[in-house]
Amino acid sequence: MTSEAIRLVLTTLAWTTIRIMKRAGIARALRPAIMAATLACAAPAFAQSAAQAPQAEPIDVQQLFASTCGWCHSDAGRGAGKGPQLMDSPRSDDFLRNRIKVGKPGAMPAFGEAFTDAQIDAIIVYIRALKPD
Ligand code: HEC
Repeated sequence: MTSEAIRLVLTTLAWTTIRIMKRAGIARALRPAIMAATLACAAPAFAQSAAQAPQAEPIDVQQLFASTCGWCHSDAGRGAGKGPQLMDSPRSDDFLRNRIKVGKPGAMPAFGEAFTDAQIDAIIVYIRALKPD
């Protein structure tokens, strides 16, 4: 995993933790402690995988999708989860690209800072190639 990808995963994790805490009605004063604990648990695991992975490796879209998108787009994008099913999407490539870059407030994080255009294109190729299990 590249350090870029790790930063992204941790950001997404933090973001999701905030949402869960809000939904669960956890008192504002307690949230920073829970967040710190969550990230403290996650960070060493990612740091270890970063140490093992060569830095300049091109992104492995399947792995990236599983770790970054998969908790909302279930079954590697084949099914709906918190987000819609991506396999057989009727949307245009431009729509998909825009959604990945810009996200949607309150629904999906923006990934335009995390990925290059070429990487986002690779994600779209991955989505278009999805077949039922
Ligand atoms: C926190 C949950 C979450 C994560 C993480 C997430 N998404 Fe989404 N995604 C959503 C939701 C919710 C929508 C629907 C937004 C809307 O209402 O239009 C969506 C919509 C999309 C769409 C548009 C599909 C359509 O038919 O509207 C694409 C493409 C997409 N996501 C790709 C990705 C990719 C690629 C990643 C990882 C880099 C990702 N998503 C990560 C929740 C998420």
